[in-house]
Amino acid sequence: MASQTITLGIETSCDETGVALFSSRDGLIAHALHSQVDLHAAYGGVVPEIASRDHVRMLLPLIQRLMRDAGIEKPDAIAYTAGPGLVGALMVGSGMANALGLAWDRPVLAVHHMEGHLLAPMLENEPPSFPFLALLVSGGHTMLIAVRELGDYRVLGTTLDDAAGEAFDKTAKLLDLGYPGGPLLAALAETGDDSAFSFPRPMLNRPNFDFSFSGLKTAVMIEVKGLRASGELAARRADIAASFQRAAVDTLVGKTIKAAQAEGLDRVVVAGGVGANRLLRRDMAERFAGDVFYPRFEFCTDNGAMIAIAGAMRLAEAEQAEEIRATARWSLDTLGVPVAPTPGT
Ligand code: KG4
Ligand code: ZN
Repeated sequence: MASQTITLGIETSCDETGVALFSSRDGLIAHALHSQVDLHAAYGGVVPEIASRDHVRMLLPLIQRLMRDAGIEKPDAIAYTAGPGLVGALMVGSGMANALGLAWDRPVLAVHHMEGHLLAPMLENEPPSFPFLALLVSGGHTMLIAVRELGDYRVLGTTLDDAAGEAFDKTAKLLDLGYPGGPLLAALAETGDDSAFSFPRPMLNRPNFDFSFSGLKTAVMIEVKGLRASGELAARRADIAASFQRAAVDTLVGKTIKAAQAEGLDRVVVAGGVGANRLLRRDMAERFAGDVFYPRFEFCTDNGAMIAIAGAMRLAEAEQAEEIRATARWSLDTLGVPVAPTPGT
């Protein structure tokens, strides 16, 4: 039997405690997720202190159960999300990963959360090969990235204001849909008419690859105010949701296709929480001439599996982490291709 390396992945950057075991030979062995959504729902958004405390409470039992169920006593490496994210929440995963590394005498790998998202489609049966263009759309980020190889990431465009997920969440809030808003808004949009309102497609015709969602948000806000005042809001909520979703998706797909053409890339990866959006997936597949890759739905949002595979891929390239890290702000451009450590350094 071929030997294997097993990597434990730990994700605690925001409001999900995610853990997973990834084998270099067999792929994903097991994963588990504890969502804090219920804890934050009452506040309408993530409360950092509550997030940190819940990670402290849940992380170790989740790891213990994962390892017991998978029949694994000691992984060969531990990968954890070192940033970007909520610094208190990151510290929980970082502290745990480094403590386990010390106790087990195993290498510890600091993983960039967004690298985890963009490598998540590698967990699927038909993974993309390098190079590809990645559209990363989450609650905190909207980025177009030219991915040449592992660690070679060039950010082509980013959002100038709200992230795509944030725009979904804020629009959902305007429509009193509750938290987390993105999936609820998408579900409501299914029942509405997406041509009922003509909302702006921000920045679509600009030559660069940056995004801006605040103008779209304001346009929706003005419409909602008017409908509320005239007592028509309840009857038109689904149409607003559908028209907003259509405008947001048109912008994301349009910019992605332009960037792929400019970079000469014929593979696109869509990842991050908004990558779970069905209209986005459908439109991208229909309109982009090349191949489109997605993680399965559950690995679009935050999870431990994407951190485990990112760590495993970096480990395979012989990177060893040497410091405890929790980095609230961390540019993806600065990662670099993994290099084997020089003996004696
Ligand atoms: O990647 P993620 O789990 O967390 C961050 O790293 O931010 O993304 C969460 C974001 C939230 O804004 C959520 O509303 C959005 O992804 N989201 C969606 C859908 N599912 C999750 N947005 C639109 N449509 C969806 N189906
Ligand atoms: Zn994320």
